Amino acid sequence: MEQKSIRKCLFPAAGYGTRFLPATKAMPKEMMSVLTKPLIQYGVEEAMQAGISNMCIITGRGKRAIEDHFDICYELEDQIRGTSKEKSLASIRKIIASCTFSYTRQMQMKGLGHAILTGKPLVGNEAFAVILADDLCSCEGRNVMEQMILLYDKYQCSIVAIEEIEPSHTDQYGIIAGTEIEDGIIKVTSMIEKPKPEEAPSNLAIIGRYILTPDIFDILKKTEPSKNGEIQITDALMTQASKGKVLGYRFKGKRYDCGNVDGFVEATIDLYRVNK
Ligand code: G1P
Repeated sequence: MEQKSIRKCLFPAAGYGTRFLPATKAMPKEMMSVLTKPLIQYGVEEAMQAGISNMCIITGRGKRAIEDHFDICYELEDQIRGTSKEKSLASIRKIIASCTFSYTRQMQMKGLGHAILTGKPLVGNEAFAVILADDLCSCEGRNVMEQMILLYDKYQCSIVAIEEIEPSHTDQYGIIAGTEIEDGIIKVTSMIEKPKPEEAPSNLAIIGRYILTPDIFDILKKTEPSKNGEIQITDALMTQASKGKVLGYRFKGKRYDCGNVDGFVEATIDLYRVNK
């Protein structure tokens, strides 16, 4: 069988989720549920549909519920076996049957770049995907990660998913600028983490989907903390772009920012309508 180009997906999931307090005081924000499924399960399903079967999760203190979610719960299985409730577990059973889960802990909150570097022992020396579960994406055809893997197979370099945002919101995202080499595909020449609108090179924002080549780890090791005193993946990607090539990809589909209440509610309403 042909070897898949992207076999592993990293899920940084150590953050505190302060925007959802008090809900996230004792529960991981990744376990917040849109309809009946936690955010992280949407992310894992997206990766799985894109042909990835090794899920690498960066956890932290208080995140045990994530591990329990992707595990068998014998008592529950026993209780509902043969009842109509059994179908509610079908999606998670399918994941458990076809994916492996590895976990490592990020002990200090030193930024997304640091979280990704923490995942190096799980990823090894191969290109990998990153999904930030806060960004829930819904697509009519291929999902965002499938679209990005097709692009990776063609260009063999790091890729970030991007979308146009309100120019006044640039300080909430990594912002890129560059040259459009194909429709919706931009070769990055500039990349800044959360710039003020007047300092932003464009209104093209990075959303929580990345494909990274493994040289990113050595670059991250040498990347100094910047915005908010954190090690930023955006800075490491800019280093990679200046040495070689990084692409911004305007994905087809809709992203919901479930890291804030408005986006979360919008996702809930839309998915409810679609699934009704
Ligand atoms: C992170 C990244 C940022 C990116 C965003 C996408 O920020 O640092 O570059 O635009 O994810 O969701 P965070 O939302 O974790 O502050």
